[in-house]
Amino acid sequence: MFICIVKILFVCLGNICRSPLAEGIMLQMIKERKLNITVDSAGTSSWHAGEQPDKRAIETAAFHGVDISNLSARPFRDRDFQHFDKIYVMDEMNYHDVIVHARTVDDKKKVQLFLEAAGGYFFKGVPDPYYGGAAGFEKIFAMLEDACRKILDKIYEP
Ligand code: 4NP
Repeated sequence: MFICIVKILFVCLGNICRSPLAEGIMLQMIKERKLNITVDSAGTSSWHAGEQPDKRAIETAAFHGVDISNLSARPFRDRDFQHFDKIYVMDEMNYHDVIVHARTVDDKKKVQLFLEAAGGYFFKGVPDPYYGGAAGFEKIFAMLEDACRKILDKIYEP
C-alpha cells in the first residue's frame, strides 16, 4: 500500500520561477530516492494563475534534465494549511504573505523559509531571478537543488 508521509508546498510570489523550479527539482529527487512525498507549489499572488512557468525557468530546468513545462501557476489558498505538512517559502515577503493566513499555532509551525530549513546559508531568501537574465536562473537552480537535497537528507536522517 502507498502511504504518503510528507506533503510539501513551495511558495514564491508569482509561482512561475522559484517555486516551480523547487517543485520540479524536488520531484526528480523524490523519484530517484523512491520516497513517499508529494510536492506542489503556489504563489502569494494570482498574477500568473494558469500560466506555465517562466520560459527561462523551463529552459534552465530542461538543461538539467528536469521537466517543469507541464506545471501551472496557482495562488496560495487558506486550505493549503490543512493539506500540507510543510510550507517552504522562498523569501521573507512570501513568509509574511503566507503567515497572515495562519489560524492556529500548528499552521504557523508549518511555514518556514526554505533556505533556513535547509541550513548552511547566510542569507534568508532565495533571490528572485524574474527581473534578471538567464544566468540568474542557473544560480537559482543550483541553490534550489542544494537546498532540496539538504531538506531530503534531514527528513530521512538515519
Ligand atoms: P517568482 O518570480 O516569485 O519566483 O515566480 C516572480 C515572477 C513574476 C513576478 C515577480 C516575481 N511578477 O512581477 O510578475
